[in-house]
Amino acid sequence: MSGSWGGGYVTDIEYTRGYFISQSPHILALSCLIGGIAVDAPWDNPALHYLELGCGRGLNACVLAAANPGWRVTGIDFMPAAVADARRLAAEAGLDNVTFIEADLSDFAETAQAAALPEADIVSAHGVWSWVGDAVRAGMVRLVAAKLRAGGIMHVSYNALPAQQGVLATQRLMREAGRRLAERSDRQVVAGREVVLALAAAGGTHLTGTAVVRDLMEELADMPVAYLAHEYMNAAWRPCFHGDVAADLAGARLDFAGSARLIENFVDLLLTPEQRAIHDRFDDMLMRELVIDTCINRTLRHDIYVRGATRLSVAARDAALGRVHLALATAPENFRYVLKMPAGEAALNESQYRPMVAALAYGPCSIAALAALSGGTAVNLPEVAMVMAGTYQALVASRPEAGADARVHRFNQAVARRDVRLENLNGTSVLASLRLGAGCPSRGAETLVAAQIGANGAVPDPVAFAAALLPGEPDAARDDLAATLKTVLHDRLAVWQRLGIV
Ligand SMILES: C[S@@+](CC[C@H](N)C(=O)[O-])C[C@H]1O[C@@H](n2cnc3c(N)ncnc32)[C@H](O)[C@@H]1O
Repeated sequence: MSGSWGGGYVTDIEYTRGYFISQSPHILALSCLIGGIAVDAPWDNPALHYLELGCGRGLNACVLAAANPGWRVTGIDFMPAAVADARRLAAEAGLDNVTFIEADLSDFAETAQAAALPEADIVSAHGVWSWVGDAVRAGMVRLVAAKLRAGGIMHVSYNALPAQQGVLATQRLMREAGRRLAERSDRQVVAGREVVLALAAAGGTHLTGTAVVRDLMEELADMPVAYLAHEYMNAAWRPCFHGDVAADLAGARLDFAGSARLIENFVDLLLTPEQRAIHDRFDDMLMRELVIDTCINRTLRHDIYVRGATRLSVAARDAALGRVHLALATAPENFRYVLKMPAGEAALNESQYRPMVAALAYGPCSIAALAALSGGTAVNLPEVAMVMAGTYQALVASRPEAGADARVHRFNQAVARRDVRLENLNGTSVLASLRLGAGCPSRGAETLVAAQIGANGAVPDPVAFAAALLPGEPDAARDDLAATLKTVLHDRLAVWQRLGIV
């Protein structure tokens, strides 16, 4: 792989493969509805076109394609190795509704290939905007202007200011020091990290001054090198103020609509009463977001924009939200009724929420049905959506009646084969589901076991499965693995059944 053509972006080492639930159309639409913004619901659109910019190794795109056979999914990335890897995953899983295009976003909008793409209902760019230079960002805006349909939704995540202010200096130091000490970017970043950590230990003021940088110093040592290189070795990396991103995207006629992290749409959970009073002095969303970013030190924003946002009446919002179905993603006995939020702990009214959790234990329920169970005390529908889906204790079930599905099993098996490492069964992974029309974030061990159930249609015996995975290994290693697999089955089997994964 060459490192010279990327316009300053790291191209000599591949990025990690990840699934991010904030990119799911269902979460984006739910967030819009919570904020009272009209959307064409993805759960009602059997032929949606999803366009992902900077899709990397394609896991998110493939999950959405696997979980929504009628959708068309297009992923664009300029790194050939990432595109090739994404195509291999799609081919191994037999997906015929996802296409990966190798192209540079700085000029893709002007190509015949771009002209030939159908309009997109949803565009997502995760981990791209603040990592690339001005020319690429401008190209992304032109592409969205040309391809996102009126009423369509865009998700864009980026490193945010002011929280990342101190990291600017850290990144510069790590990159400059690394470049002087080594060649390939993975070696550069390891060398740069060593200098940064040594200077922090020696009391370098800037590396010990702010909480965000101090936290980073603690986390740096454990970060995978591929992730570090793509995070810190890019020449153009530049955290952004929300208002500047919103101004850039206004060029594609996009209106800011909210956050793909659902809890971030509830100001009372973010700000103290004193902070809230200052926030409320302003009635424009951009100024309010600046106050929030200043108070909660959000390092990564997950913005949602709508091309032509229109507001719903409360009745219309509730009618649309009430139809959304949710499926429980945790064991009912593990449901958390006390939530940790930036403004402090929020204790749920258990007499309202326990009956909802009990109902969800039997299968997916609509938000309207859940709210009706709240025991006579009125509960508002956005709050139910936030408590359930914003804490990821429930996930949107776009096809509540759908069961386990052979195509999705094949995909989950491909993920297990390609991505799950026996030496890192705690690593992040994903399980696609037709019922969810999306993925459920999982651990490697979970993907392994669920994929095995999909392959055989039977729940594996942990001891026999461990022996098959570790042929010729000592008994102690097999026993450890069998114990891990047994715990996974105990904790997750019923959850997977509720989510339609097995
Ligand atoms: C930090 S990675 C994020 C990848 C993926 N979205 C994820 O979150 O796993 C940024 C991605 O943007 C891609 N990229 C950077 N500059 C690009 C450009 N000019 N055109 C297309 N893709 C680009 C990189 O190859 C990389 O895959």
